[in-house]
Amino acid sequence: TVLELESRVREIKEKLGKKLFIPGHHYQKDEVIQFADATGDSLKLAQLSEENKDAEYIVFCGVHFMAETADILTTPVQKVLLPDMRAGCSMADMADIHQTERAWAKLVNIFGETMLPLTYVNSTAAIKAFVGRHGGATVTSSNAEKMVSWAFEQRPRILFLPDQHLGRNTAYNLGVGLDEMAVWNPVSDKLEYEGPLENVKVILWKGHCSVHENFTVENVKEVRKQYPEMKIIVHPECKREVVAISDMAGSTNYIIEAIENSKPGSSWAIGTEMNLVNRIINQHPDKHILSLNPHMCPCLTMNRIDLPHLVWCLETIERGEGHNRIQVEEQTAAFAKLALDRMLERP
Ligand code: 13P
Ligand code: SF4
Repeated sequence: TVLELESRVREIKEKLGKKLFIPGHHYQKDEVIQFADATGDSLKLAQLSEENKDAEYIVFCGVHFMAETADILTTPVQKVLLPDMRAGCSMADMADIHQTERAWAKLVNIFGETMLPLTYVNSTAAIKAFVGRHGGATVTSSNAEKMVSWAFEQRPRILFLPDQHLGRNTAYNLGVGLDEMAVWNPVSDKLEYEGPLENVKVILWKGHCSVHENFTVENVKEVRKQYPEMKIIVHPECKREVVAISDMAGSTNYIIEAIENSKPGSSWAIGTEMNLVNRIINQHPDKHILSLNPHMCPCLTMNRIDLPHLVWCLETIERGEGHNRIQVEEQTAAFAKLALDRMLERP
């Protein structure tokens, strides 16, 4: 039963004490988040993993790329485990390292040595390593503007992987025109751009988040019609046209804080993952809050981490085995760390 599973988690947590650390991303289910030692967005979880020197086991409640990041930032004796190996990320899967090497070679032919690569942390360790090797850095949704500005101090052009929407929204906020942004299509291996190539400042990888793409202009119009007073706040993984007509856009942390700091009685439509939206709704009974998309948008891969998988994983530690270890190959980890450090050095 659920109660038995919950008491198993408590028992094992108590037994392992500081040897065990459970970070939980904001998009995780409540049944899992209740046992997290720390919750946060991807930036905070990356920083906490790096700071934690006590834990021998880090049971990462999030998705595969986050567990990889934790493995890269922690010491070799610390073991990072992912309770379900199927907890991937459709966006990270949209940029494969071979496609990226091929794209880079073609882009260097077009633009010479004028580009710096940046990758959203929602990417594989191999992509982070590629970026690290070429002098670039990782970004998260909470520091994207700072990192894109930094990149423009290094080179006149950037290649932004793998989320075209975060890249476009961020560059736009920094004053880059939509007509100065090209899109690299990794399926056709072609640059999608209509103007003169010398005008290109940002090359966006054609990837997206399958959860945040579900928030549409129609959703925004519907909310505006039904609730004219309502503030609309969305994650920058949403499409440009949705962000453009919303009131505010920012990372999961930004969304949480905006609502926490709002007056009782205020009303909000939120465009981000469903588990987080539901949690915010429950935590603020004094406010009128709903999902921007009435059908709600779950991240199915985040949801693969559930209570039974958490218990199973913890029991493997209890038996001294520690299954589902995520271990990034040494060379890849070293280059990926360069990209992560360039971000973490700029708090
Ligand atoms: P943040 O936690 O950085 O806002 O990212 C959202 C996300 O989609 C994580 O997978
Ligand atoms: Fe990936 Fe989107 Fe799920 Fe985040 S919400 S893990 S970006 S698919």
